[in-house]
Amino acid sequence: MSIGRVSGKACIVTGAGSGIGAATAVRLAEEGGRIVCADLNRDSAKQTADSIVASGGQAIAFTVDVSDFAQCDALIAECIKEYASVDVVVNSAGVNLPGVFHEVPNAIIDKTLDVNVKGTMYCCRAAIPHMLRQGSGSIVNISSVNGLVSEPFLAVYSASKGAVVMLTRGIALDYAKQGIRCNAICPGWVDTPINHAHAKLLGGLEKVYAEIGNFQPIGRPGESREIAHLALFLASDESSFITGSIISADGGMTAQ
Ligand SMILES: NC(=O)c1ccc[n+]([C@@H]2O[C@H](COP(=O)([O-])OP(=O)(O)OC[C@H]3O[C@@H](n4cnc5c(N)ncnc54)[C@H](O)[C@@H]3O)[C@@H](O)[C@H]2O)c1
Repeated sequence: MSIGRVSGKACIVTGAGSGIGAATAVRLAEEGGRIVCADLNRDSAKQTADSIVASGGQAIAFTVDVSDFAQCDALIAECIKEYASVDVVVNSAGVNLPGVFHEVPNAIIDKTLDVNVKGTMYCCRAAIPHMLRQGSGSIVNISSVNGLVSEPFLAVYSASKGAVVMLTRGIALDYAKQGIRCNAICPGWVDTPINHAHAKLLGGLEKVYAEIGNFQPIGRPGESREIAHLALFLASDESSFITGSIISADGGMTAQ
């Protein structure tokens, strides 16, 4: 049900071309948000923006590589140009490039940290001066259960997501008195393309899903929209007392 939870708010969603980012962009738009759908993949960002507009919402697409700080600055500038504020930033762009730790090439280590850690930093850093001027803003970082616990083949990814947890806490503390909130979501296994390489290492997606109850007690993968509902809540003023929180949405995985 839509009750305008983020009515009129200018919302940037990175990774909006697919999975959790796409679902979040759509969910925010359903609740009255004015969205910048940002992604490395120009076509998929446009697809999400087009689908929002076709449903009567407000959205534009923006192509960005979040690992490039100048492009993140340009993304925030585009939002200001289009909507005259930056009220919400959801950092969902990410990569998961799994492997046996001692065999992971430098390029994969660099890419994982550049996108997942620095990309999140750059987008937060670029948005905050505008949020300070406004006296308000909500940042939602998509970390992972792997920011809290690790799994085989995911040492580098886990390190990057742990960094996002601590970045979130640090930003929350720095701006708590200035109206800017910053929280992180730690999703469990959600059915999106980012997991395909990891699934392959575990014997294939079919096998992982057949046995998912062994590590995700709810017994099924999550859906992107289930994460989007939480991102919407954290973006909206309904979560006005929540900052610096790391919230799992993982079908019970980290309860074990
Ligand atoms: N799916 C899961 O099980 C799961 C679990 C925990 C955390 N996460 C996190 O959720 C976030 C979203 O992942 P998803 O599951 O929607 O995956 P996804 O692969 O469906 O979407 C990721 C999106 O990020 C974009 N992207 C990648 N590199 C980028 C870059 N340099 N600049 C801009 N955009 C870039 C991709 O083009 C893609 O559209 C990621 O940060 C991921 O680590 C996912």
